[in-house]
Amino acid sequence: MADPATQAWAEAYRSVAPGSLLVMQAGEASKTWDSLQQILAWLMEEQADRSSVLLVLGGGALSDVGAMAAAMFKRGIPWVSVPTTLLAMVDAAYGGKCAINFGGIKNSVGLYNDPAHRIYYHPYLQTLGVDALVDGWAEIIKHGLVASQDLMQSNLAYFGSLNNTPNPVLTPPNQDLLLQALQVKIDLVALDPRESGPRKLLNFGHTMGHALEALSPSLGHGRAVWLGMIYELGLAVSAGLLARDHGLICYANLQMLAPYVSPETYPSTWPSWKVVLEHLLQDKKNRGGRILWSLPVGVGKADYDRVVDPAMAERVYEAWIRDPLAWPLIHGYA
Ligand SMILES: NC(=O)c1ccc[n+]([C@@H]2O[C@H](COP(=O)([O-])OP(=O)(O)OC[C@H]3O[C@@H](n4cnc5c(N)ncnc54)[C@H](O)[C@@H]3O)[C@@H](O)[C@H]2O)c1
Repeated sequence: MADPATQAWAEAYRSVAPGSLLVMQAGEASKTWDSLQQILAWLMEEQADRSSVLLVLGGGALSDVGAMAAAMFKRGIPWVSVPTTLLAMVDAAYGGKCAINFGGIKNSVGLYNDPAHRIYYHPYLQTLGVDALVDGWAEIIKHGLVASQDLMQSNLAYFGSLNNTPNPVLTPPNQDLLLQALQVKIDLVALDPRESGPRKLLNFGHTMGHALEALSPSLGHGRAVWLGMIYELGLAVSAGLLARDHGLICYANLQMLAPYVSPETYPSTWPSWKVVLEHLLQDKKNRGGRILWSLPVGVGKADYDRVVDPAMAERVYEAWIRDPLAWPLIHGYA
């Protein structure tokens, strides 16, 4: 399985592992029942059986829907993940989660299905545009903020060297940095494969991020999470969960990405709190109607299942959308 951007690489795989190729639309629009049905129908047509292997070449969206189809077809055929975006390499390819969007809610129908193998090839990253790179870097920065001061330092060093050049161009991380970021995910998944505990730390930025992503179809996942992290950082400081000086250090890590974020990333009209809240209340981590946040509580340290007064979450949102990158955010709003 591939999409138009990754088709040529899929063709190359066929020269060593002959098989049929399904090329389907990529991106968030592919995470639907229709796409799932398209893949299942194709597997049926091609007379795939349980000895068949589904190779998915693409970004996180394609691997989410491909992995779901692989789990469902004939009660499960093996699949191989060939991540071709930075986000997929550093995040989606590990941990087994896969999902489609349903009922207007992001990832609301899904399951766990680990790939039998993963094939990493760093040069795939060379063809990514700046938005896709920002999406991946956002997750790398998140991994540092929730679990690794060392990674935060590596990220600072990378962006420091980049911003010292006259016309900085965002590039993919080198393999060492990519592996350092990936290791954070591998370790958390190993501790908590089914996300009942510490793996939830990786959801920092996702509670607000998923709401924004669902409400702004053109907003890439990583950019939505980046915006979500800025909001949630302000929330953590405002709620007294994160000391302001620590918040400032975390904020500096997020801020590094700002020069590469296109202006279209910021919604021209921010959704009202009421609409956002409807999405927040659908978050998979919630229990008993309470929103459970994963929030930073130190530098390179986060906590999960944190409850914040909803009135404060609203006040922080109203203040935040007035100027989402403003320094005063870090002083807390309430
Ligand atoms: N399952 C998980 O654990 C997990 C984790 C994080 C994110 N996700 C999901 O991943 C999705 C986002 O993934 P994404 O950021 O990879 O974006 P994406 O899958 O939407 O792909 C973005 C675009 O990049 C193109 N593309 C892919 N590889 C390319 C390459 N090497 N060069 C040029 N273009 C290329 C694709 O054709 C697509 O148009 C979201 O749906 C998110 O929910 C899943």
